[in-house]
Amino acid sequence: MRDTMENTCVIIKPDGVCKKVSGDIIKRFDSEGLKLVAMRMVRPSKETLEQFYAVHKGREFFEPLIRFMCSAPVIVMAWQAENAVAKVRQIIGATNSKDAAAGTLRAMFGTDGRRNVVHASDSAANAQKELAFFFKPEDLMKYEYGDWNK
Ligand code: CMP
Repeated sequence: MRDTMENTCVIIKPDGVCKKVSGDIIKRFDSEGLKLVAMRMVRPSKETLEQFYAVHKGREFFEPLIRFMCSAPVIVMAWQAENAVAKVRQIIGATNSKDAAAGTLRAMFGTDGRRNVVHASDSAANAQKELAFFFKPEDLMKYEYGDWNK
């Protein structure tokens, strides 16, 4: 299968921000070879989060998930790589932190199914939709790592 360059939406959730592990999380994606192309700290409204997580509406975890995601600021990022969606999901581990494989971000820093430190898109199409909640197209930076050294 041919590799494709993708962006994926990663959110450091309120537990990640409040436990002061944002730096560890960002460093991990950097050192795994992904490129950071956009980042901002936001406190999304309940309405934004209800739309963002609309696919889960009606599930028993929906309301607590929205309350949790509103409880503190989050850091939203776009990370770019070939097959970024699959790469990032591998790095973060299973949804429930208790089931996440050793060495994954959720195993290292998460607590349970809700307090699982990071969100990441599950497809390239959803990544585009999710990033559009927080970024304009021109917010996604185009650069090469050598650019600083001219
Ligand atoms: P996330 O990657 O942000 O996508 C949807 C979120 O819903 C998921 O991470 C979890 O935080 C939450 N979630 C999904 N399934 C469950 C569950 N069974 N119990 C609690 N929270 C869940």
